[in-house]
Amino acid sequence: MAGKIPPEFIDQLLSRVDVVDVVEQRIPLQRAGHEFKARCPFHEEKTPSFYVSPAKQFYHCFGCGAHGTAIGFLMEYDGLSFPEAVEELASRAGMELPQEIAFESAPDQRPLYDLLEKAARWFEEQLRSHPEAPRAAEYLRRRGLDGETAHRFRLGYAPDGWRNLLDAMGGEAQAARLSQAGLLSERNGRHYDRFRDRILFPIRDTRGRVVGFGGRVLGDGTPKYLNSPETPVFHKGRELYGLWEARQALKKIPRLLVVEGYMDVVALSQFGIRNAVATLGTATTADHLQKLFRATAEVVFCFDGDRAGREAAWKALETALPLLKEGRQARFLFLPEGEDPDTQVRREGAEAFLRRLEGATPLSDFLFERLSAEVDMTTLDGRARLAALARPHLDRLPRGPFREMMEQRLARLTGTKAAVRRPTNRPRPAGARQPSRLKPLHRAIALLLQYPELGGVEDLPQGWQALETPGVAILQELLETLRKNPHLTTAQLLERWPDEAVRRHLGRLAATSLEVFDDQAEQFAGCLAKLAAKARRAAAREARGKLRPSDLTEEEKEALRRLYSSKS
Ligand code: UTP
Ligand code: MN
Repeated sequence: MAGKIPPEFIDQLLSRVDVVDVVEQRIPLQRAGHEFKARCPFHEEKTPSFYVSPAKQFYHCFGCGAHGTAIGFLMEYDGLSFPEAVEELASRAGMELPQEIAFESAPDQRPLYDLLEKAARWFEEQLRSHPEAPRAAEYLRRRGLDGETAHRFRLGYAPDGWRNLLDAMGGEAQAARLSQAGLLSERNGRHYDRFRDRILFPIRDTRGRVVGFGGRVLGDGTPKYLNSPETPVFHKGRELYGLWEARQALKKIPRLLVVEGYMDVVALSQFGIRNAVATLGTATTADHLQKLFRATAEVVFCFDGDRAGREAAWKALETALPLLKEGRQARFLFLPEGEDPDTQVRREGAEAFLRRLEGATPLSDFLFERLSAEVDMTTLDGRARLAALARPHLDRLPRGPFREMMEQRLARLTGTKAAVRRPTNRPRPAGARQPSRLKPLHRAIALLLQYPELGGVEDLPQGWQALETPGVAILQELLETLRKNPHLTTAQLLERWPDEAVRRHLGRLAATSLEVFDDQAEQFAGCLAKLAAKARRAAAREARGKLRPSDLTEEEKEALRRLYSSKS
């Protein structure tokens, strides 16, 4: 079956889903340094030896050896077939399956999406033609919203009354379905319209499908906003209002601005700032951030400059820390007290707002400024306390240049030496995780699997290819795959391997603790050099076996020359 699904699709799928999310939804995970651990779901055990690595997108049990990617986990844990697991993940990631592998295994939510779409269209229609529509339109006009923007965001109007939508969508016969879509409320067994006399903001998922609504009262009523409840297709903690619209408007999204309200997204868009998204009245979750960083490299959180805003910003910072892999950035924009992006951009215009955005505070500044304010930096004690306060936060950052930079900054601030670069907080349960002593060939493969970017290193030692060991062909194949597809992750590389037995072996190498810091390229080159030397020795032995050079074929002579002239 695997052969039928294009490898590019699997690559893309694995880059969009997070194995940590997938596992966490099924078994509780505990953080352990940069990884997560749990008691292994695949064998009986008292202490956790099951690890999930967000960096490698891979799980591994040191007890029973179970390991794999998000796809493998679903197959093992949920008992799905490969195509079923792919389908399940694809639908979570909002990816359309290639036609030939669309299966009917997952519950089919199409009727629900269709109904939500139909409702959205009906609400839009009411904003144009309902007798009460002028009131709604007038409200939007008063708030400065233009028709084009309202249209782009598909704003609608839910008329006052208990069963306008219910009747328009087919009456009682449709009540169960409408209710499942979150469009009805229920009291004493009677269904009635959930949204009444409100402006409706349809919330679209990453595929552009309407999954829920936010509804605002026209005046000062309460609640100010009413949102769809959780439904099979709508999860507040995951959706980002405006993300689909941003993706439609921009080919490349160099940064996304995270604001608090529907109106903020819509107003900014009207002013040409098309890269704003809003969480739906909740704090930013890790799920949100995963989604954001899949779409962009830089996230700017925008908050009111008051106390509540700063607290919310700090929460966002804490959620963001573990996700700040190399190349990702987070910053914070604090608006004047009492302003939100909607009022601010209307007050000062797009250009001034964009200037603010340029000046947003980098996460590092926000973190150190806030922690420094809690201590007396003029005393030794105070600085020691700062180090202690910062430690747990820095420890949550993924290893890499950004973390190094933060360590150095902390060292400068506290006047201590930079922390020794040792993997001190790496999980290493007794006996289970000793750094392995691998042979150069296995180490080279393991390095390449764990740091696929090594495939792009230039001027690697040559000559090792002549070694006649099965592993060499695998190493070569891995390198070639990475040359052609430089952005593959560990998980993607593994899933591409057609041979099951080899894949299992590679899986073990991918999970081996290598204890490297920032010299993986050097180590990789070192391994290849050792292999090249070995190849030369083998060739020399072979040559000695033949009596005179004239006994060598031209090809063999050429091969020998190449071996001796290549760098080691
Ligand atoms: P705000 O209270 O900041 O409102 O809520 P706002 O977006 O500025 O709204 P306007 O400008 O008065 O129209 C921010 C977000 O919190 C959620 C909504 O998602 C809202 O956009 N919220 C707020 C609710 O879900 N329910 C509420 O009652 C209020
Ligand atoms: Mn507002």
